[in-house]
Amino acid sequence: MDSNEWIKKLGDIAEAFKSFSESNVDITFLEERFVGKRGELTLLLRELGSFKPEEKKLLGAKGNELKNKIVSFCESKKNLFSGFKEYHYDIDITLPSKKYNQSNLHPITITLNRIIDIFQKLGFSIEWGPLVEEDYYNFEALNFSPDHPARDMQDTFYLDLKDDKNKNYLLRTHTSPVQIRSMLKYKPPLRIISPGKVFRSEAIDSTHSFVFNQIEGFYVDKNVSMADLKWTLESFMKDFFGSSAKIRFSPSYFPFVEPGAQAEVSCVFCGGTDKSCRVCHGSGWIEMLGAGVMHPNVLKNCGYDPNEFSGFAFGAGIERFAMLLLGIDDLRVLYENDLRVLRQIF
Ligand code: PHE
Repeated sequence: MDSNEWIKKLGDIAEAFKSFSESNVDITFLEERFVGKRGELTLLLRELGSFKPEEKKLLGAKGNELKNKIVSFCESKKNLFSGFKEYHYDIDITLPSKKYNQSNLHPITITLNRIIDIFQKLGFSIEWGPLVEEDYYNFEALNFSPDHPARDMQDTFYLDLKDDKNKNYLLRTHTSPVQIRSMLKYKPPLRIISPGKVFRSEAIDSTHSFVFNQIEGFYVDKNVSMADLKWTLESFMKDFFGSSAKIRFSPSYFPFVEPGAQAEVSCVFCGGTDKSCRVCHGSGWIEMLGAGVMHPNVLKNCGYDPNEFSGFAFGAGIERFAMLLLGIDDLRVLYENDLRVLRQIF
């Protein structure tokens, strides 16, 4: 290397140092890179050994000038930050932390959210209906004629409220009126779920309450059959309770479906093997919901031609699912606001 090359290298190093020093680079890195044991400038200065004395003196002066500049830059930065090292925080990290009252969703809401998620995956959308409902939507349009004995299946809170059109109002006894409201509002195909509170004039016990939550589901299109209903409910149950869940149907009566069925899910607790199982009592099956193929009169009441369209519908109590998730056998536990229950996030 001749002196010109040496000078050029020194210039490159000075240039590199300048740009690093203007950025936020770590000081120890900078120090090591340029003036450390194997630093670029250290190695360059070592090359001076092979130069003639006059050259060595001249170049050495230039090289040392840059070295001093870098060293003092690094020292000044280190002094700037060194104060932090000596600072001691005056805290005791072994103290227990403050307790916060963390809130969480109510078990019924968590259960409902899970149910909604599953049906949304299956392509269902959500509709909401009013809690104060007209007799027409709650009963009549669902094929309960005014004096039909099937009305007695649902003890009703009638409201002493008449509007100018002389309509009868009540607290809805089920979420099924949303079937009617949705079919009047939209054109088929419809794939809808509708959750919400329902009311029945009943005494409270471990499995009954005057207000509880239901979720309605229905699908109306061409060629919808009982087979679609069964597949949909089975897919739902498997997703909710696990892939080993099975369902079975048995005949049941609701005026707005024909045929009507009651669906049971295989006992997720004992699988039917435990005679003393608190949930299925050894039968292996748990009653979960009412369902069926929409009655032609219901379709007609909504202006749908029953020869062209058909549908299925089901209605389930949300508390029932929450009780199975929590493993409790008394519904009242869900309404008593005992924090030991409410805090069981599952
Ligand atoms: N609405 C019925 C009930 O509350 C349940 C149901 C819904 C049955 C849809 C059939 C079809 O008992």
